This record gives sequence, structure tokens and C-alpha cells, in this order.
Amino acid sequence: MIDRQRAEAAFLAYTAGYDPGSSMIRHKIDHTLRVAGNCERIAAGTGMGVDAAGLAWFLGLLHDIGRFEQARRYRTFVDSVSVDHAEFGADLLFREGLIRQFPAEVLPAEDLSMLETAVRLHNKLVLPEGLDERTRRFCDIIRDADKADIFRVVAEIPFEERAGASKGLLREEKGASEAVMDCVLQHRCVPRDARKTRFDVHVSHCCLVFELVFPESRKIVREQGFLDRLLAETDGNGEPLWSERELEQLRTVRRETDAFLEQKEDMNG
Ligand SMILES: [Fe+2]
Repeated sequence: MIDRQRAEAAFLAYTAGYDPGSSMIRHKIDHTLRVAGNCERIAAGTGMGVDAAGLAWFLGLLHDIGRFEQARRYRTFVDSVSVDHAEFGADLLFREGLIRQFPAEVLPAEDLSMLETAVRLHNKLVLPEGLDERTRRFCDIIRDADKADIFRVVAEIPFEERAGASKGLLREEKGASEAVMDCVLQHRCVPRDARKTRFDVHVSHCCLVFELVFPESRKIVREQGFLDRLLAETDGNGEPLWSERELEQLRTVRRETDAFLEQKEDMNG
């Protein structure tokens, strides 16, 4: 069983080497610790025992470890112009031996191999076929835990910065593309190349919710309320953030995401 106190201390000691004074690094540390908490909660929610939930927590602690070296070497978190941070992190841990800095020596080989796979795959669009059932479950847990926190990360970016334009400019846009609204109605994630307008990007963030696998993850998103914040129609002064057409589409997004989040059963069985 993972010694969580030692594991967290090891994580903080490792990241202390990466300028935790910078807000970029600080955000990743905070994100990681929240995701680890989400992992544990989701694992417990699926009926896993304390040891397995602790392992899920440890997976959350490791999942973004590649971010720190990525930031140092490339000065960016954009994978497309640097490295795939998930592959990079898995390589650092399991090929270059970074895992030895963590108290993971108590884990059996099959857990270490699961951790490597789950770190490596945590950011992929879809999981490959052929994963064993246990590995797949941990992959689903880290992916849910990470997504559940993305709503917070996005919602905390100021609206203008997130949308990349002034509000006035945004309200002149023509609304979401048809393909994007089809994703909303079908409860599917929006493929990157389907996003044509800034409002498409906004809607695509909200659609991440449709990828959540476990009821506990949906509960976390409901409780935290960050998706609600993304679905806000007006700013703090009561000024509409979007054009009439966009607001109408936003209501559809809200209706569909609400319906999805209210589902009780675990769709993955
Ligand atoms: Fe990540």
C-alpha cells in the first residue's frame, strides 16, 4: 500500500526544483493534488477498496509529472509545439527511473505497469482496445478525475482571455457551427477540427462533460459548479456575454449537459 504522506512529500520535493513561485508551475501542482483527490473519490465511488483507492490517488499524483520538465525544457504546456506531456511523463518515470524518487517500491509489478500505461494514456482522445479490465478502469478514473478539474481550470481563466476577444466582438459572432451543436445533442465530445468559431471552442469545453464515465465524476462536476459558471449567460453586471443566437444555443447546451449529469447509472457497467 502506498505511503501517501511520503508520496506527497516526494512530489512536492520534486516539483520544488521547478520554480513553484511561477504561477504556471503553481497551477500544475494544485491541479495535480486536486486530481489525485478526485481519483480517490471516484475509485471509492466505484466500490474499490481502500488500497485500490490509494493507488488511484497515487496515479493522480503522477499523471502530469511530465508537465514540470516540459515547462523547463520548452517553456510551454502546449504539447503540439513541444512533447506529448503524458508520454514524456511516463518515460521520465518508468524509463528514466524517476519513479524511484517515489515510495512505489511496495507496489507489485502489475501495479507499476498499470501506472505507466495510465499515465501514458491519460490525455489520449480515445483509449486503445485490448487493455486489461483493471488497467482500463484506472485509465477511466484518471481521465475522469482530470476532466472534472478542467472545468475549474477553464472557468478560472477570465472570460476575455479564454475567448480571446472582447465581449463586444464575441456578440457579433454567428453562433456555434451545426456540427458542434450535433455533438451537443448526441452527447459527444467535439473533435478539434470541428471547432470553427470562438463560441465553438466555448461549447466544446462544456461538451467535455459527455466523456465522464463514472457517476461519481458527474457528481463532482455538479457539486463544484464550474460548468455552471461556464454556462453563464451574463457577466457580473448583468450584461449578456453572448449574442441572442448564441444564448439560445447555450441554453440547449445547458439542457443537454444537465440531462447528462443527472443520469444516475454507471454507463460503463
Ligand atoms: Fe495531463
